[in-house]
Amino acid sequence: MELREAIGRRRSIRFLLPHRPVEPEKIQRMLEAARIASHWGNVQSLRAVVVFRDSAPPEVRDAITAPIAGYQIRLAPVVIVWYLETAAIDEQADRLRELVKGGALGFGEEKEKALEEQLIPIFQSIGDKLKEPGLSEVDCGQGIAQATLMAFEQGLGTCCLGSPNTDEIRQRLGLPDSCRILVLQTVGYPAESPEAGGQRPRQPFEKLFHMNGYGNPFPRSETVVEELRSDQLLQDPMPLPWREAELAYLKRALGIKGHGLL
Ligand SMILES: Cc1cc2nc3c(=O)[nH]c(=O)nc-3n(C[C@H](O)[C@H](O)[C@H](O)COP(=O)(O)O)c2cc1C
Repeated sequence: MELREAIGRRRSIRFLLPHRPVEPEKIQRMLEAARIASHWGNVQSLRAVVVFRDSAPPEVRDAITAPIAGYQIRLAPVVIVWYLETAAIDEQADRLRELVKGGALGFGEEKEKALEEQLIPIFQSIGDKLKEPGLSEVDCGQGIAQATLMAFEQGLGTCCLGSPNTDEIRQRLGLPDSCRILVLQTVGYPAESPEAGGQRPRQPFEKLFHMNGYGNPFPRSETVVEELRSDQLLQDPMPLPWREAELAYLKRALGIKGHGLL
């Protein structure tokens, strides 16, 4: 699948085949894609514990819950618990040294002296601030996004789920206090059609993106829109005409009770 089509096809897939396991190799490819994502200072704070429903200890499985459309956890053969290791920021000086030594950052013979005497002390003076929620979460999101596209490229479906239960999940997984759980990501083979009901609504392009200052919408070229439509990056919006019938079928087939919102 081309990158453009993978971006266009990416949807939250909430209906997974509960009986079809996911090959660990496919999960590894997702993790490899996450590992090479950008991170400020090359700190690499994104980490994960992959929970396979069939082999995880019951105390781990039972702790992994999500309140919104929570049936998804029951259906998912795999849940990736993505977390941020704030202690990675303590090793940032070494990550900078690697960048400078390898030629990714800085020029000439003075660069190492400037790194040790200027750049590293700047970062060290704001180390605690950098551990607060913010920039590192952005970078973790980039890694999770790359993993998600890799999942789609391999025919898998995923959905990110927020959980209020993160302290308990952290304890049951044995993660140190320095870790912040970011999101649970279900992974499995889709039980629903690839369109998953169609592209979810998005706010108008011009409302979201500006040029040279707030309030001046970034001009949206119809030619580009047409090109991206033909490359499948832009797909038909929801609801597709047969979605309600598909939902009724999925609810029955997967034994989902009630309205499915909780
Ligand atoms: C960080 C994050 C947390 C989310 N949490 C939930 C959740 O708890 N339950 C759920 O059903 N969907 C959750 N979603 C999925 C969003 O509802 C979904 O991305 C949004 O409706 C847009 O749909 P799409 O991903 O198919 O484009 C989450 C998505 C993200 C990125």
